[in-house]
Amino acid sequence: MPGETIAIAADHGGVELKVILKEDLADLGYEVLDLGTDGPDSVDYPDFAETLIGAIRDGRAARGVLICGSGIGMSIAANRHREIRAALVHDNLSARLARQHNDANVLVMGGRFIGPEVARDCLRAFLTTEFDGGRHERRVAKMS
Ligand code: RB5
Repeated sequence: MPGETIAIAADHGGVELKVILKEDLADLGYEVLDLGTDGPDSVDYPDFAETLIGAIRDGRAARGVLICGSGIGMSIAANRHREIRAALVHDNLSARLARQHNDANVLVMGGRFIGPEVARDCLRAFLTTEFDGGRHERRVAKMS
């Protein structure tokens, strides 16, 4: 919900999309915790995933957004933590289902795969869709 802090981080493959989504988050009324990277120089995505997960674990952020070139590396890195449910999404439906069925707390996208408008739409869906609970609660609990 607006007012909540959303952490965002990217590697060099996602930095351009991060700039766009960061602005959207602020426009939508969220507090943004930008954890880098900030330029095109090559960096290692696990370092940025770890930093963002750390921010969620210590309560500095409620949820997060991670972007790398494909989204794959960031989602693998983030999902090494039991309390993290990082969902690599490609469109509105996958973003919506990631919330409704999986209670995803980290949105992951591939900056080299997804266009900026689709990514913005995914971000909105992630932010505004509630977890359905019910049978999904049991399944999510089994993972954490
Ligand atoms: C970096 O070139 C690229 O490997 C990274 O952004 C990501 O796609 C990894 O999964």
